[in-house]
Amino acid sequence: MKKKLTFLGIETSCDETAASIVQENDDGTAKILSSVVSSQIKEHEKFGGVVPELAARSHMDNIEFIASKALKDANVKVNDISGVAATAGPGLIVCLTVGLNFGKAIAGFANKPFVAVNHLEGHALSPGLSFKIKFPYLLLLVSGGHSQFLIVENINQYKQLGTTIDDALGEAFDKTAKMLGLGYPGGPAVEKFAKKGDKNYFKLPMPIINKAGCNLSFAGLKTAVLRESKKIKNNDQLKYNLAASFQETIIKILKKKTEVAFNDFVNITNSKNKIFVVAGGVAANESIRNNLKEIAEKNYFKPVFADIKYCGDNAAMIAWAGIQRYKKKLINNLDEEPKSRWPLDLKAKYMKGPGLKL
Ligand SMILES: Nc1ncnc2c1ncn2[C@@H]1O[C@H](COP(=O)(O)OP(=O)(O)OP(=O)(O)O)[C@@H](O)[C@H]1O
Ligand SMILES: [Mg+2]
Repeated sequence: MKKKLTFLGIETSCDETAASIVQENDDGTAKILSSVVSSQIKEHEKFGGVVPELAARSHMDNIEFIASKALKDANVKVNDISGVAATAGPGLIVCLTVGLNFGKAIAGFANKPFVAVNHLEGHALSPGLSFKIKFPYLLLLVSGGHSQFLIVENINQYKQLGTTIDDALGEAFDKTAKMLGLGYPGGPAVEKFAKKGDKNYFKLPMPIINKAGCNLSFAGLKTAVLRESKKIKNNDQLKYNLAASFQETIIKILKKKTEVAFNDFVNITNSKNKIFVVAGGVAANESIRNNLKEIAEKNYFKPVFADIKYCGDNAAMIAWAGIQRYKKKLINNLDEEPKSRWPLDLKAKYMKGPGLKL
C-alpha cells in the first residue's frame, strides 16, 4: 500500500509558536492529525504589540515542547513522517530563524526532505485543509501584515491583482482597538464592540474607493478613527458606535474592491471556475465573512472561507503547503535563509512609499 504523505509543519514567523502534523488523504483532501498553537498574547499585550526579541526568546523556550506535543497528539514518530516544512518568511527574522533552524535540524537529523514555506502561501492554501479547491481561484488574503487580492494559479504561481498601499487590514483593526482602549490583538475585540454599536453613527472616509483598481488603503480611515476617538473620551456607547462604524466602513471598502477584483479575475483567467477564497486572520470576522459571502453569490462566485481555526497563524497550513510543494518537487536545501520580505507574486510592483503613482 502506498504510504500517505505526512508532514510536520513548523511556524514561528510572528507571535505564535506552532507545530502540526498533516496527512494527505488518497482523494487529495487533508487530514489534520494534530495542530498545536501556543500564542504569546499574554507576553506582548502590556506593550500593545509584538516585541520581536521577546517573541524570539519565547519561540526558543517553547518550540521543542510544541513540536513534541504535535507528534504525540498525532501519535506519529519522527521516522514515520514524509518531510518537514517550516516557515521561512515573510516575518520577523529573529522569530523566523528559530522555527526554520529547528525544522532544518529535524529534517537533517531524521534524513527527511525539507520544504521552506512562504507564510503567505500557507494562508493562501489554508482553505484546502477543509475543502478541495480547484485552481485557479481568486484569493483575498487579509491578515496582520498583508491585504491582497491574488489569482492563485497553482502552487507557487500567483498573480497579484491588488494590495494595500499603506496599512494591512489586521493592523487597522489592531490600531483601532488601541485607540478605543481595547487589548491586543484588536480584531476580535473590535468585532465584539461593533455588535453593540450603531454602524451608521460616524461617517468615515474610504480612501481610493473609486480608483486604483482593487488596491486598498486604510491609513486615512485609521487617522479618522483616531480623530473621533479623541473626542469621545469615556463614553462607552460612542466607543461601540465608533467600532461599528469602522467595521461597516471596512465592509463597504471590501465589497466594492472585491467586485473590482471579480472583474479582473474573469478578464484575466477567462475561467469558468469562479471561486472566491478568503483567508488570513481577519477572515475570522463574522460580519466580514457574511458580507463577502453575499457579494460573491451576487456575482456568481462560489465563496470559500478558511475554517476559523485556521484563519490566524497555525502550523497546519504550513504542513499542508509543505505537502503541496513537495508533490511539485519544490524541495529546499538545509542552507535556506529566512526572508523578512517575500511577496507571493515576485513580479508585482511594490506599492508602498513616497512617489507611488496610482
Ligand atoms: N475577528 C476578527 N476581526 C478582525 N480582525 C481579526 C479578527 N481576528 C483576528 N483578526 C486580526 O488578524 C490579524 C492576525 O492575523 P494573522 O495571524 O494571519 O496575521 P499575521 O500572521 O500577524 O500577519 P501575516 O500573515 O500578514 O504575516 C490581527 O491583526 C488580528 O487583529
Ligand atoms: Mg499570518
